[in-house]
Amino acid sequence: MANVGIFVGSSSGVTLEAAEKLQELFEGSELINMEEDFDDLEQFNDFDVLLIGSSTWGQGDPQRDWVDPLYEMENDMPDLSGKKVAFFGAGDQDTHGEHFVSALFKLKKIFESCNALTSYGYTSVDGYDFEFSLAQEGDQFCGLAIDNINQEDLTEVRVEAWAKQIKEEMGL
Ligand SMILES: Cc1cc2nc3c(=O)[nH]c(=O)nc-3n(C[C@H](O)[C@H](O)[C@H](O)COP(=O)(O)O)c2cc1C
Repeated sequence: MANVGIFVGSSSGVTLEAAEKLQELFEGSELINMEEDFDDLEQFNDFDVLLIGSSTWGQGDPQRDWVDPLYEMENDMPDLSGKKVAFFGAGDQDTHGEHFVSALFKLKKIFESCNALTSYGYTSVDGYDFEFSLAQEGDQFCGLAIDNINQEDLTEVRVEAWAKQIKEEMGL
């Protein structure tokens, strides 16, 4: 199994809970809570696979603990060539359906600009009801969207299916 790092920013614990489930499903993986465990961008180099988690806030923005690291990434452009990266995060498709899980796209763009491989873990938009999302490409999200406010009963199944998909796509 490749070395898997799960980096997560979560304000009320929803994306963190998904990250903890992923940690169980990816044997030997490490969970890095951006609030407590993240030191600097060098930490990405400890892993071959990065599972990047963030809820969406404001007008489609990444969770606050990602703000500084993303700013540094945009400035320093660390070389993430060869790293396989996939994105997951919580949102609210009803109250914030005008920017549902848009943070996934913003994260993806920045990781992509650092040469990471980001075409993993796309999921269907079927089964969600939202107005707009930057994370939508055709009929897919560029990652895993979870919504514990409106569809909590689907979260565990979605996380499990996504973990299985990632393992297949990345050959883990
Ligand atoms: C002020 C505010 C702004 C929000 N903005 C968005 C948004 O733009 N898009 C979205 O999908 N969800 C939005 N949400 C919903 C959160 O992403 C949702 O509550 C999520 O479950 C939080 O996950 P976390 O506990 O992992 O941080 C917003 C929530 C609040 C309170």
